[in-house]
Amino acid sequence: MSQDKQYHPQTLAIRGARQISQFHEHSQSLFLSSSFMFESAQAGAALFAGEAEGYTYSRTANPTVTAFQDRMAQLEGAQAGIATATGMAAIQATILTFLKAGEHIVASQSLFGTTLGLLNGQMPKLGIDVTFVAPSDLSAWENAIQDNTRLLYLETPSNPLTEMADIRALSQLAKSKNVLLVVDNCFCTPAVQQPIKLGADLTVNSATKGIDGQGRVMGGVVCGSKELIEQVFMHVRTAGQTLSAFNAWVLMSGLETLFVRTEKQNDNALALAKWLEQHPKVQRVYYPGLPSHPQHELAKVQQNGFGSVLSFEVKGDRAQAWHVVDQVCLFSKTANVGDVKSTITHPYTTTHARVTPEDKAKAGIKESLLRLSIGLEHIDDLKNDLAQALS
Ligand SMILES: Cc1ncc(COP(=O)(O)O)c(C=O)c1O
Repeated sequence: MSQDKQYHPQTLAIRGARQISQFHEHSQSLFLSSSFMFESAQAGAALFAGEAEGYTYSRTANPTVTAFQDRMAQLEGAQAGIATATGMAAIQATILTFLKAGEHIVASQSLFGTTLGLLNGQMPKLGIDVTFVAPSDLSAWENAIQDNTRLLYLETPSNPLTEMADIRALSQLAKSKNVLLVVDNCFCTPAVQQPIKLGADLTVNSATKGIDGQGRVMGGVVCGSKELIEQVFMHVRTAGQTLSAFNAWVLMSGLETLFVRTEKQNDNALALAKWLEQHPKVQRVYYPGLPSHPQHELAKVQQNGFGSVLSFEVKGDRAQAWHVVDQVCLFSKTANVGDVKSTITHPYTTTHARVTPEDKAKAGIKESLLRLSIGLEHIDDLKNDLAQALS
């Protein structure tokens, strides 16, 4: 790790934090073993007592998973990381590590639908309350903080409307109020945004998205300081939200191509967003790379690119939006993002289906809205597919 520090993130994504065995394999090995042997009873006791370093059981730690979480931490600019079975497991583990009954979260109202469900459906059952605020309204965040608030939680850019929160400003607020700032970095991945370098305490990523990049496996990771991650680790090993070694191995190969994929996907997304913005059947385009985006200037300083996800409203309502989904031939009709294959979805009835109509209205998610995740296909093929679907 200390030697890795001199390398650029593009190099670390390929070579950082490898776990190499005595056979000196060139590729990351898959350590497909649920448990590990001890040399003696005394050595086993030392491992279990935490007096010696080594592996005992894969719910606690596995070399392939260690390699993945350490490489993710390097890319996020964090001291440490802990991998989880899914992105939602990363979010849940983070919340349950740092909050108990009677405590409170301030969260952005513009979040992935399942995260909203976790915060306003599951957490209140455990006595954890949440106040939702507009992500870009700094004074709303400040006013919502109470004596029992422990954590501020946000996504930037948000899913699906690409609304942005100012991480640096919110980190100053969080520090002044002695609460943690947690950023879901899934839409950007560390190739585009490093919230910890901007002052966030922890990032959560759904590795299912751009980290894998080829839509193969589920995974998640939490990154932050050694001290905070040690606490999340204790929760994950006990609650069992551990990432499988196989998925970690697949995700390691995803990381090797993260930067080249990201650059091309971002270029394609920007070209498509500009093209959609002048299309007569399109009402509005949401993409931080467009000068018309209300937080375009913030995106330019907070991110190293504008991302591969954009949303747009068609002129009309659900019928017109569904028509586009039904007519596309190339775009995959699926809710995943960050894949090398472009995808299209109708957030109102898919990713946000379980969010109440009132909450969708509050978050600005209309029936005419479509979300695109842009992949690596030729830009002209993507434009032609949308053109025929919109016509
Ligand atoms: C922004 C965001 N965060 C978290 C998640 C949850 O990730 P997973 O599906 O890996 O649990 C998603 C999934 O779509 C997401 O879009």
